[in-house]
Amino acid sequence: EKGGYDYFMLKEIDEQPQAVAETLLGRLSETGQIVLDEVRLTDQDLRDVDKIFIIACGTAYHSGMVAKYAIEHWTRIPCEVELASEFRYRDPVLDRSTLVIAISQSGETMDTLMALRHAKEQKARVLAICNTNGSTIPRESDAVLYTHGGPEIAVASTKAFLTQLAACYLVGLHLAQVRGVMYADEVGAVVDQLQQAPAQLTEVLAAMGPVRQLARDLKDASTVLFIGRHVGYPVALEGALKLKELAYMHAEGFAAGELKHGSIALIDDGTPVVCIVPSPVGRGMLHDKMVSNIQEVRARGARTIVIAEAGDEAVAAYADHLIYVPRTPTLLAPLMTTVPLQVLACGIADARGNDVDQPRNLAKSVTVE
Ligand code: M6R
Repeated sequence: EKGGYDYFMLKEIDEQPQAVAETLLGRLSETGQIVLDEVRLTDQDLRDVDKIFIIACGTAYHSGMVAKYAIEHWTRIPCEVELASEFRYRDPVLDRSTLVIAISQSGETMDTLMALRHAKEQKARVLAICNTNGSTIPRESDAVLYTHGGPEIAVASTKAFLTQLAACYLVGLHLAQVRGVMYADEVGAVVDQLQQAPAQLTEVLAAMGPVRQLARDLKDASTVLFIGRHVGYPVALEGALKLKELAYMHAEGFAAGELKHGSIALIDDGTPVVCIVPSPVGRGMLHDKMVSNIQEVRARGARTIVIAEAGDEAVAAYADHLIYVPRTPTLLAPLMTTVPLQVLACGIADARGNDVDQPRNLAKSVTVE
């Protein structure tokens, strides 16, 4: 069943190009229009939306964080992302013009389900992004966009994350299109880029040898830090979560700009710091800020592991280990930059002799609160 792989996780990491392609399939028309027929919300409903809440847990929450950047940029609708377990127990301001997007691989996560019910009680419309046909969360939602990632067996979420990102991008573009805030050719340009993602992911996967080697080198680290900005920030959080969950190692993700407000004190001689660098193209300022953050941590002794876009030579001087991924527009970059972090966590866990597919204390689907 593992198809020759040692772990389901490795198989699922390798399935990502296909999983993303399947999730996009049939949803992008030749004219660059987005087709979302399973969304049972009328165009008028979508035009009436004046606020979006994304609710999710764990890895799905990280995909929601990325979605916020894309949705606000493309649609200009205010969008908040919240952990389902927090959303549920406070008093969020919602009404029938609020769109709640519940993201869940399993469709059975109790916290997300309870948050969804909480939203429905206040008449908000709920759109589920889910990987499991007929599961509870989509059944209780007004509309559902299925990610077609296929079954995910390993406890650590990999292909589900990438397909959630793809689905969120589709939702964002669709909203922008229906509301007339993006021209068809602008949507078409993003769609073209999205369609290249599966082939680019295949390239990323083919270049993972050095990351597997690095994983063996880092197996005895006492802590690993991850830093990123903009959409690289949720990627940093996701990289740290994978490492905690699989390697039982202390790991933390930070918004790189926050480091100097306290956390930089953690850095000691040789502390591994994984740095997610935004594209130097388009948002050059963001890139330059990140490069100075890398210099700062390195000046304090960090061993820097830099994930950057192919062709970005400016970072090379500050990288103890440099991993290039193909060029994408900034908002889509998490589709690429997450993959080395999955491979790294899987490799470290394996080198430490852990059960990669069934980490201690965890269940694939968290059906208790
Ligand atoms: O099935 P869900 O997407 O609702 O699950 C949410 C989290 O429990 C899940 O993403 C968890 O964080 C993963 N094990 C992380 O790899």
